[in-house]
Amino acid sequence: MLPPFLANMFASFLLLALSQTAAASTAFEKKCLTFRPEKYMDGATRNVLQYVAKGTTLTFPDNDATCGRTSQAVSADLCRIALEIETSEGSKITFEAWFPEDWSGRFLATGNGGIDGCIKYEDLSYGSSRGFATVGANNGHNGTTGTAFYNDPETVIDFAWRSLHVSVETGKKLSRKLYKESYTKSYYLGCSLGGRQGIKSAEKFPNDFDGIVAGAPGVDFNNLVSWRARFYTITGPSTSPDFIPVSAWKTWIHEEVLRQCDTIDRVKDGIIEDPSLCHFNPSTLLCGRNTTSDCLSPTQVKQVATIFSDYKYPSGSLIFPAMQPGSEINAVDRLYAGAPFPYSKDWFKYVVYSNPSWNESNFSTADARAAEALNPGDIRTYPSKLRKFERRGAKLLMYHGQQDNQITSFNSNRFYEHMRGSRGYAEMDEWVRFFRVSGMFHCSSGPGAWVLGQGGNAAQAGVGFNAQHNVLKAMADWVEKGVAPAYIEGTKFVNDTVTLGVDFTRRHCKYPARNTFIGGDYKDAASWECQ
Ligand SMILES: *[C@@H]1O[C@H](CO)[C@@H](O)[C@H](O)[C@H]1NC(C)=O
Ligand SMILES: *[C@@H]1O[C@H](CO)[C@@H](O)[C@H](O)[C@H]1NC(C)=O
Ligand SMILES: *[C@@H]1O[C@H](CO)[C@@H](O)[C@H](O)[C@H]1NC(C)=O
Ligand SMILES: *[C@@H]1O[C@H](CO)[C@@H](O)[C@H](O)[C@H]1NC(C)=O
Ligand SMILES: *[C@@H]1O[C@H](CO)[C@@H](O)[C@H](O)[C@H]1NC(C)=O
Repeated sequence: MLPPFLANMFASFLLLALSQTAAASTAFEKKCLTFRPEKYMDGATRNVLQYVAKGTTLTFPDNDATCGRTSQAVSADLCRIALEIETSEGSKITFEAWFPEDWSGRFLATGNGGIDGCIKYEDLSYGSSRGFATVGANNGHNGTTGTAFYNDPETVIDFAWRSLHVSVETGKKLSRKLYKESYTKSYYLGCSLGGRQGIKSAEKFPNDFDGIVAGAPGVDFNNLVSWRARFYTITGPSTSPDFIPVSAWKTWIHEEVLRQCDTIDRVKDGIIEDPSLCHFNPSTLLCGRNTTSDCLSPTQVKQVATIFSDYKYPSGSLIFPAMQPGSEINAVDRLYAGAPFPYSKDWFKYVVYSNPSWNESNFSTADARAAEALNPGDIRTYPSKLRKFERRGAKLLMYHGQQDNQITSFNSNRFYEHMRGSRGYAEMDEWVRFFRVSGMFHCSSGPGAWVLGQGGNAAQAGVGFNAQHNVLKAMADWVEKGVAPAYIEGTKFVNDTVTLGVDFTRRHCKYPARNTFIGGDYKDAASWECQ
């Protein structure tokens, strides 16, 4: 036990320390609450200005219900700013800035998904908890449908590129005003449509970011929309005689894919390291004299073969690459479910044709051609080079789940090669690196080691903020220290539950290298080598 005078001294020291922390918070809180963000931006009005203490769960009662984001836990003391900002006469974005008190000096912008309309509060929380002055926006409209685009080209422009650019300009300015100091480096984090937004930004506004982390990027967007629309024309409605039941895809078709391809990487673990090596042959499932159940009719075999083939014009030129095998367990939920894919349906109805009664059943390559020719809001996003971005020393990190059920990962291989052209891989390595994440579905989840600090849901908290395990930190180290990632080591938690501990980790290789088992325990990352 401490002598009384020491105990007293200790107690007063503790009190002093506590009151100093409280005083610091109060100062930041005051700075936040007296801030007038709207006065720095033309056409901006303020919706929210609040100091949020670490541990608070924010609720968003007026957020569009289809966004499915009613609340968000906040794990840093921060100043929250929400503005409406006009982007043209008759269009506007809803903008959020979450500026942490414990600021690293870094700026971060976050993206959207699908054809939404939804601020990713989980990414605002993630970025701010890692010390980034973080911003996000609703991409020009609210909710997950495309109805807001109908006869509204300005809202399509917001969606294609303007919402992100306006939020970057706004966020950078406001952070400077609030902190009274300029940011050091500027970053972007997004997946799916959000991946596309990052690459569009590098193309159109090469000065906006020093580092862009783009997951499963929805690049070549017009053709992506068409590729997704086509599945309904392959499968037909769920009532058609040759419709392949959902359960078949999830069980015996997937099992046959694994039987043919799982051990190409020398390990039977339910994960195909490189699906580009998997040339799935569905005719092994053809019903025969001896097989009358868990088998496919000739028409169904053709359907499966079409799904796993490149999508082409009648002339033979490519529209979009094949779906990668392995993804069917989840792809069936939306793409092969016997119903039109909602994002594609809305895009054609409200954007391409401005005709809400357009019928998706008869979608054809003529529609694909029309969408590509129109290229609404210049949304295409398929640059063959990003010279200005590259020349200023900015960096691009791409990743793509190899079991992606919404955007085939083969499109990222193609996009990387499209940018590379005749250049060597080593030259590309200087500014763009692409990691293929085996066993990951669309942006997150799956049987593989998919937790990479890529934002999104709760499991992100489970990996430390270090370059080996976290893509955002890997990007920061690349930009700030010139240390480029050679691989990204993903983490699989037991049952995807952080508190249950790590099941295994695996090092996802930098394209074009592929992960190959070299012996030992396959759950040990060191048992694999990038070749
Ligand atoms: C979107 O929702 C926000 C509230 O979350 C609202 O302030 C804003 O006006 C809405 N935007 C549009 C375009 O309806
Ligand atoms: C099919 O069944 C017949 C009769 O039982 C058998 O002789 C034949 O080997 C079987 N074929 C295959 C491919 O299993
Ligand atoms: C679309 O066309 C299909 C096939 O012609 C038809 O069965 C269906 O009823 C149509 N849907 C609508 C909403 O008109
Ligand atoms: C769509 O295609 C089906 C089958 O090819 C045909 O019977 C139907 O008339 C077409 N519907 C429209 C609206 O063109
Ligand atoms: C993992 O999840 C499954 C299904 O939800 C459950 O049956 C099992 O008990 C869980 N395992 C652990 C270790 O919690």
